Amino acid sequence: MANTVIVGTQWGDEGKGKIVDLLAEYADIVIRFQGGNNAGHTMVVQGEQIISHLVPSGILQRKCCLIGNGLVVDPDVLLNEMDYLSGKGVDCGPEKLLISERAQVIMPYHKQIDLGREGKKGKDKIGTTGRGIGPAYEDKATRRGIRFADLIDPDEFRVKLSSIIEEKNFYLEKFLNCPPADFETIYGQYCAFAQRLAPHVTNISVYLEKAMQKGNKVLFEGAQGTHLDIDHGTYPFVTSSNTVAGNACCGAGVGPGSLNYIIGIVKAYTTRVGAGPFPSESSDDTGNYIQEKGAEFGATTGRRRRCGWLDIVLLKNAVRLNGLTGLAVTKLDVLGGLDELKICSAYRFKGQLINSFAANLKHLADCEPVYEILPGWHEDISTVRSFNQLPENAQKYLRRVEDLVQVPVQIVSVGPGREQTIVLDNPFEKD
Ligand code: GDP
Ligand code: IMO
Ligand code: MG
Repeated sequence: MANTVIVGTQWGDEGKGKIVDLLAEYADIVIRFQGGNNAGHTMVVQGEQIISHLVPSGILQRKCCLIGNGLVVDPDVLLNEMDYLSGKGVDCGPEKLLISERAQVIMPYHKQIDLGREGKKGKDKIGTTGRGIGPAYEDKATRRGIRFADLIDPDEFRVKLSSIIEEKNFYLEKFLNCPPADFETIYGQYCAFAQRLAPHVTNISVYLEKAMQKGNKVLFEGAQGTHLDIDHGTYPFVTSSNTVAGNACCGAGVGPGSLNYIIGIVKAYTTRVGAGPFPSESSDDTGNYIQEKGAEFGATTGRRRRCGWLDIVLLKNAVRLNGLTGLAVTKLDVLGGLDELKICSAYRFKGQLINSFAANLKHLADCEPVYEILPGWHEDISTVRSFNQLPENAQKYLRRVEDLVQVPVQIVSVGPGREQTIVLDNPFEKD
């Protein structure tokens, strides 16, 4: 078996979509296991860019794509994405795209609450994507969420929606000063979504069990990144789900023994979109150079991403939290043209060198990055397809990362295109 989990190691946008699209060629099934349409996963195939927010990034490889129970799904966004892909000749029918009956449904009031709360917080806001993710997970945890199994049963949906809408409207009107949600409008709109999506809704855990018994290989596609994890990230500046590899089990409905390889996607530098601590952030010219050369704008919200140097404290944290067996280093091409490259190898806190990531955000804010300096390269590497053809200093950069974290680099990405990749060790070809 070579089931493989792909997770982001930093604060999201590491290039997971590109690597999932690439590796999906060797898998039979691709499943998203958490998050929602806060994700924006970019695939570039034959020069054409496609950004997916909910449909797993294996769809362009014509693989069977599953949306696990761990997601919060906006049915409107999903249907638009399916229509968009179908318009491009990509099959999104029930043979190719299935949704867990236990996945949670994002409702219009979740979006209103997300945006209303952020607006009310002003400068203290988290900088959410405004897609209703937090409020939807909140309802899941308080057992008032609406699942796909409920949505596709019109009577059950009516009961569930009517039992919650009064309270939502009280909160929207009285606390957030927002207009109330109208029951009949939502009910009608969501019943129409349900009718279209019903043929796709199934028990994904059972589906996966049968598929794995037949020898099918599964690629688990994570969204966001390790440091946006609700437990392990820079809380409260995080998303509302567990983003680490362990959650692939809960969010897909498989046991831990089904996960064989865990590949952490790491951008050759660091970016973050939204508020929160970022020790190796570079607000000088180099940060701007990386931002512009790397076109670092959010794939979901279009916001400018904050940029900085590669942070090994962060990466080691991701290695431990996910049990990474390999790394895929992306956007190495973006670092070309700089005379010197910095790697943050530790933090200095109250005069001491530390290698851990503080939970106390005030302590984290007081951590100063300690850098090692490596020589850069000026060659364009976007057409390089083998490790040995990379400039010597690019090779040294990668080898230094491996030395520092003690996990092998298995894939190197040198451009957004599927073909702009150096695969040193493909997890799906291991057995
Ligand atoms: P994801 O959320 O982890 O899937 O990443 P995003 O799609 O949000 O952001 C990654 C961005 O970097 C996208 O615009 C990709 O097309 C682009 N990208 C991915 N890998 C590379 C690479 O190796 N080099 C360059 N220059 N761009 C890349
Ligand atoms: P992908 O899968 C980068 C960030 C938001 C915000 C915080 C909470 O494309 O890597 P939320 O809407 O989830 O409640 O926002 O999390 N965030 C992401 N940042 N990439 C993502 O996904 C993100 N998904 C959420 O910017 O800071
Ligand atoms: Mg993204």
